[in-house]
Amino acid sequence: MNPLFKDLGVGVGLRPAHRSIFLESPPKSVSWVEVVTENYMPWEKEGWGKSFQMLSRIRKNFPVALHGVSLNLGSVDTLDPHYLFRLKQLVNQIEPVIISDHLAWTGINGETLHDLLPLPYTQEALNNIIFKIDQVQNYLGRRILIENPSSYLEFKNPEMSEVEFLKQVLKAADCGLLLDINNIYVSSVNHGFNPKEYLKEIPGDRVGQIHLAGHSDQGDHLIDTHDAPVDPKVWDLYNYSLELFGVKSTMLERDEKIPEWSELEIELLNIGVIQNEFIKSNRTSDLASRIHSPSATL
Ligand SMILES: [Fe+2]
Repeated sequence: MNPLFKDLGVGVGLRPAHRSIFLESPPKSVSWVEVVTENYMPWEKEGWGKSFQMLSRIRKNFPVALHGVSLNLGSVDTLDPHYLFRLKQLVNQIEPVIISDHLAWTGINGETLHDLLPLPYTQEALNNIIFKIDQVQNYLGRRILIENPSSYLEFKNPEMSEVEFLKQVLKAADCGLLLDINNIYVSSVNHGFNPKEYLKEIPGDRVGQIHLAGHSDQGDHLIDTHDAPVDPKVWDLYNYSLELFGVKSTMLERDEKIPEWSELEIELLNIGVIQNEFIKSNRTSDLASRIHSPSATL
């Protein structure tokens, strides 16, 4: 059976600070890029902006994933038809390999709050977001990915855990998962759960992409700031995800204190090293089990 999502290799969240590098001497350390959708969508009156023109040129050398922050899937507001129309125009132009947004709500009564706010994990909220994802997928004519959130507060009396909620979304909406490993780690520290138990619950065939990022430690809680290198505990969790799901398209997000490209490349190369070590050790253990098996034929 064909997998739902193919491995694209190592990618990066492309930010304006590094665009010129991608335009002038496309780096070999990444094989695809992810961009924030809203920064490239056409304006209703002005049309396409300069950023879009640059992305079109970069698109000639790199597959592009579109990562949105304003679909507002978890809100009780109806989906914004203007937003959807602009998104579809961008999709038609860029032909992205992945389209994603968040398991969150970002506005109410037509007001955008510019933040990814957590959902109450109730049947009512579940039905609502499944309905919205279904509408988006029907409109775009393709499957989208939903990213698991990082959170700092929880609602009282949830009807199910976050991972159970997420699993039901993936199944009922028939969408994919953008698995953010750092988000799981941040929430696990903030709410006191075991991040490996969370990961074990995830259906691996639904994982279409992985995010890695840094966070900041505030003493009694962590914040998902994307302003630092990936934490060693998050690398450990990434290794664990490889054991569970195998190699998936993986990318690095950095949104604040953006370093020189050469510094970011060190972390990008590390993703490749970890993936290769996993593949190598898997081959070795495969070989060992075949040698020790009485019916082994080499
Ligand atoms: Fe993320």
